[in-house]
Formats: sequence, C-alpha cells, structure tokens
Amino acid sequence: KCFKKVDSCFQRKFGTSTAATKTDAPNKKYKIDSKDGNKSFYTVQEEKIEQAERSVLISCPAKTNEKKFLSYLSRHGDINKCFFYESYGTYAVVEFSNKESLTSLHEGTAIPSINHEATVPFKSRLLSLRNAGPVDMSNDQSAPPCQPQTTIHINDLIQRLSKEASIDQQISSLTETYQLTEENVCLRFLVCSLLKDIAAAYFPECTIRPFGSSVNGFGKLGCDLDMFLDLDGISGRNLKRPKAGLSLEYQTKRSASERACTQSILSVIGECVDQFGPGCVGVQKILQARCPLVRFAHQPSGFQCDLTANNRVAMKSSELLYLYGGLDRRVRCLVFSVRCWARAHSITSSIPGAWISNFSLTVMVLFFLQRRTIPILPTLDHLKELAGPLDKSVIEGNDCTFVSDFTKIRLQDNTETLEQLLQEFFEFYGTFAFNRMSINIRKGREQNKPEMSPLHIQNPFEPALNVSKNVNGTQLERFVALCRESAWMLQQREFNVPHSGSATGNNAPWGLAALLMPSVSQVAGVKGRKKRKREPASERIKGLLESLKNSEVKS
Ligand code: GTP
Ligand code: MG
Repeated sequence: KCFKKVDSCFQRKFGTSTAATKTDAPNKKYKIDSKDGNKSFYTVQEEKIEQAERSVLISCPAKTNEKKFLSYLSRHGDINKCFFYESYGTYAVVEFSNKESLTSLHEGTAIPSINHEATVPFKSRLLSLRNAGPVDMSNDQSAPPCQPQTTIHINDLIQRLSKEASIDQQISSLTETYQLTEENVCLRFLVCSLLKDIAAAYFPECTIRPFGSSVNGFGKLGCDLDMFLDLDGISGRNLKRPKAGLSLEYQTKRSASERACTQSILSVIGECVDQFGPGCVGVQKILQARCPLVRFAHQPSGFQCDLTANNRVAMKSSELLYLYGGLDRRVRCLVFSVRCWARAHSITSSIPGAWISNFSLTVMVLFFLQRRTIPILPTLDHLKELAGPLDKSVIEGNDCTFVSDFTKIRLQDNTETLEQLLQEFFEFYGTFAFNRMSINIRKGREQNKPEMSPLHIQNPFEPALNVSKNVNGTQLERFVALCRESAWMLQQREFNVPHSGSATGNNAPWGLAALLMPSVSQVAGVKGRKKRKREPASERIKGLLESLKNSEVKS
C-alpha cells in the first residue's frame, strides 16, 4: 500500500492543530507546526521524565503574588516553567533549568514540627509555601492565573457544541475542550516522578512511567493516571556473565513466578506510598487482579492513580495508540467524540464491569478507520513491515515490533469529513456481524471469532487474548442499538443543521450535541418520535433499517 508521507505528527495539545492541517488535500505535504515534530513516543517520554525530575510541586496561599514567589524561588536557580492550578487549594508546578537547583532548594526547606503530632521526615518534592511575615504576598490582591485541570460538565459541553456552525466544527470543538493540556501532561509526569522518589528507596535506578490515556493522545482532562514501575533499566539486569574467570553477582530473593515477584514489589511500594507518600490517600492494593496494581488518590494533583509493574505490553499499546493518533488529526477527533458519546449514554463507565472499556472503544475506532474504502489508517502488520532494527520488540514471547518513525509511514488520500466518518462509524457498528466476526487491527479486517464472547477484539500484541472479554451480550446490544439510533439521527436533516434560533441565542442541541443528550429519542421529543413513525425515511435509511433488522446481534 502506498501511504502519503506524514510529517505533521502531533497536532495534539503539545502542539496545536491549525486550519492548515484540517484539510487533508491529496498529495499535499503536511506542515510541521508542533514543537514535538517527528519525535518518537519514547523520545517525548524521556524528555518529559527528565523535565519532571527538575520540577517541584508547591502548595501556595490562594493570593500568592506570582512575581514575588518566582523571585524567591529563583534564588535556587533559573526557572524554566511555572504554572498554577486549583485542587483543594492553590498549587504551583515549578520546573528549574537544572537539577542542581533542587539540592539548593532542599537545603533551605524545613521539615515541619507540629504540636501533638509527629511527622515522617521524608524529603519529597511536594512542598508548602509559608510566609511568617513581613513579606507582603498580597500586594496585588489578585490570585495567580490558574490553569484548568478538569473539563467542563457535559451539559455545558452540549451548550458549547450547539453554538458551532457544522458537525465538523462540533467534533473539533469537543476534542479541543476535552484533550489534555500541556500543563496537565507535565503534572502527570511530575506525579510519576514524585512517586519514583518513594520507590527509589528500594530501587534507586527505577523509573515510573505514565501510560494509557495520559500519554497515548486520547486522554481527557480528569482521566486516571496509569503508571508503570519500570525496573528493566536497572543496571546489571542484562549483564552477561563472563564465560571464564571470576565475576560477581547479586544475591537476590527469589519468587515462584514473575507475577509473584510483581505482587511482592507492588505490595511493599504500596505500603510505602500509604505510610510515607505525602498527598497519597485511600491506598488500595489490588494484587490478585490479572494485572496487579496499587490504586490511590493523589490529592494535590487530583489524580486517581493506578500503579502497576511489569506491564510492558500496556506501554507498547500506548505507543501504538499514540502513533495512530498522530497520523491524521481525524483519528483523535473521532475517538474523542465516540468516547464522549459512549460515556454520555453509560456505554462506558469509570467502574470496571461488563461494559465496553475506553480502550476497546478506541481500538474499534482505529479498526473502522482501517476499513474505509480508502483506508485512513494502516494495519499493524504494515507498521511492522516498516519497522527498523531498533524498533524490534519481543515481550514475553509476543512480537510487538512496529515502526516508531512517523516519517516512514505514507498515508492514502482519504478526504472524508469528520461528519461523514462519525455517521459511517455508527452505521458500520450498527450493522457489524458481532455474532460471527472478530475485530483485528493487526490485519485491518474482521476475522472469524475464535471464541464465543459477545464482543471479540483481538489484543494487538497478545493475539490469543480478547481485550473485550468482559463485555456481556446486554452491553453489546445497548451499544449496537445506540449506534443504530445515532446513525438514524444523523440522517435526519432537522438534527444535522444548526437550529434556526442559533443566531438569536436559542441554541437547541443539534448534530453531535443532540447525540450527547441523555436519551437520544428524548431529543426528538414526542413530536420527533411520532414523525419518525409517520414519515418515510430516506432510501438510504430505509436500506440501513432493513439491514439493521436482518443482522441479529447474538450474545
Ligand atoms: P481511560 O479510560 O481514559 O483511563 O483510558 P485508558 O486508555 O487509560 O484505559 P485504562 O486506564 O483502562 O487502561 C490503561 C491502559 O492499559 C490502556 O491504554 C491499555 O494500554 C491498557 N489496557 C487497558 N485495558 C486493556 C485490556 O483489556 N487489554 C489490554 N491488552 N490492554 C488494556
Ligand atoms: Mg487510564
């Protein structure tokens, strides 16, 4: 397959999308307009990890004078970046230019002594600004400008979208509103780095990396923070013993299995987080799960955190999603819209259960984009063919190799609009033969189901596994029914053009906004529902409804 070359990979919030990149004119070269340019996933990760190691998180009085605050801190060294946010109080993230500044800062920072209470003298990088006077911090009475770390309520989103002029603009607006900001990503890396300081008590060379939606380009403000305790970088791990002569090796504790080893490491680190981690509350050790984890809330950031270990495949999945999301701006836009639509109708939930997960839903969108007549996304097998020697990756016997260099990927000239794609997405899954077929992004085509789970989505890197094994028939039926209803709605002219009252401020939900309303059929109202029964649908809808009737969803 001949894929058009891509060189504007990251119109994510790290960079910004521009009108110039919105139309994918055939054979036109994309413009690089992001500071991350063509950097690979790991290059970006390493840079952000390094920035986080030079950063501190400081709780400040609400009316902190930003200028005086920065002037006070800059006595320890140059400051690269600083922003404030609110989360049960005002916090500042301060990134120094050099790591040495932290040594100086730690030297001048006191461990508090509190009457009637004792403190654990753990010197973390979570600090509090105190003013014992007479520094007047409230010179200008205004609070420092705060960067939002959460997103707006769904009702406000519906209002906002209703004011847009087209469904394409609604989809772009939803993505802009929901996606992680550069500051929020910094904060996520900083929380990992703070956690690393705790884990480093046992494993000084460890790294804690964010994965999942914090880094894969599909994260929504407020999403959880998935973390991975990476012990692979510990020196000596891959040191080969000499074939002859003397050598030393470490005496180590042994465990019956990798899993048992992961469980005991997480148990101890979880205990440390619970006992000594400032700001970490509600620590739960969920060690019997398929993927053992420690769950807790990090209060100063407001993040719900899941700490795992030995989870390389999930890291690889994050990299793959990041790659797909960076190839064409429509990918992220469609994923954001579908995820928001699914959440609005309780197709997905923040609680694990028999419903479709955000991860599964994302894979379904990717698959749909591979299945366009002119594919928007290449198959995973194609990405594997393009891989260079450094991309080779085998994890627990599974080949996870795929290209990391965006510039090697050529995309085809698909010019479908977001509106068309959203409509077609609903039609595609409203009529998909879930009873017989499995979704497979490696091959980019459906395959016969190897087992009878209602929804079968092959795990891209562990082909024997179904990422949606948890989904029951009822949940799948709800998804399919909603796809059909949404497809139908997008066919109705009254729903897919702005209401005439828009100009006068009467922003009745339409288009994507109407699809997000609690019950789609309620949006039509009694009149709409009656109309639906009375009026003959367009030929296309009739055809769709016919095919919908014929394809039974088997659970
Ligand atoms: P959010 O709902 O925004 O948190 O999306 P997420 O992508 O972060 O999902 P989640 O927190 O549930 O999982 C984190 C990561 O773990 C995902 O991005 C995947 O890489 C991986 N993951 C989650 N569920 C599965 C699964 O069922 N199978 C596999 N192979 N990986 C999964
Ligand atoms: Mg997550």
